[in-house]
Amino acid sequence: MNSNTLLKTIGINAGYGAIQVLWDVSFELNKKEIVCFIGTNGAGKTTFLNNIVGILKPFCGQIIYQNQDVTQLNSPERIKMGIGYAPEGRHLFLGLTVEDNLLMGAFPRKVNHRTLKEDLDFIYNLFKPLKGYRKKYAGNLSGGEQQMCAIGRALMSKPILLIIDELSLGLAPVVVDDLIETIIRLRDEEGITILIVEQDVQVALDIADRGYVFENGSIAMEGYSENLAKNKHIKTAYLGIA
Ligand SMILES: Nc1ncnc2c1ncn2[C@@H]1O[C@H](COP(=O)(O)OP(=O)(O)OP(=O)(O)O)[C@@H](O)[C@H]1O
Ligand SMILES: [Mg+2]
Repeated sequence: MNSNTLLKTIGINAGYGAIQVLWDVSFELNKKEIVCFIGTNGAGKTTFLNNIVGILKPFCGQIIYQNQDVTQLNSPERIKMGIGYAPEGRHLFLGLTVEDNLLMGAFPRKVNHRTLKEDLDFIYNLFKPLKGYRKKYAGNLSGGEQQMCAIGRALMSKPILLIIDELSLGLAPVVVDDLIETIIRLRDEEGITILIVEQDVQVALDIADRGYVFENGSIAMEGYSENLAKNKHIKTAYLGIA
């Protein structure tokens, strides 16, 4: 394994019970990279992320994180190793306040009150609208604010690798632009490696260094974003350019 590799999967076959969804998925993520997964609905992107974070276990194959085989570790163990997850649909606790949602993200860490306060301040500085809404129920936030809260909650686990499933889905373009800027800041200023699933292929290629295209549970194509943007199949199938 290259010393610059943070995460690597080898031949992941996975699914639900007898239903196989992923077929021999191998991929690599380098430290401080931003990588995007793109692909049509049902291609297996979320299933793959759930295997990476330990919510699902693969039928076979290996997941190597920081040079360690984590395939059999459970999710809390992987979170403690620095894998933070903002899942598809956000899964916020809608009846809890913004601040309590954020604090839930710090639950796996054993930290004192002062550290928690500093970590909350970091999130409020990153996502300024959340500061004024800290006592508001998460269920009363707009979609964009909920996404900030979900990413903020994942950041409260102090991740080395931040995984976001569906960054821009349902959000106004101006909100998406702000989120993209924030994600790039997290990489550039905090050194966090980022893995994103993104339906909007233009957004994906704008934000990511590299991309992987999922089709029918396999990786159909991979490459640097500038090369994928020029690819004929990507242009016609995903960007609507004839
Ligand atoms: N809990 C489940 N039980 C059985 N099949 C499932 C389950 N969750 C997903 N699937 C199936 O697995 C396949 C891949 O789904 P997955 O959600 O991973 O795709 P996706 O690429 O994330 O799609 P989307 O872009 O819609 O989020 C689909 O055929 C889906 O119906
Ligand atoms: Mg999905």
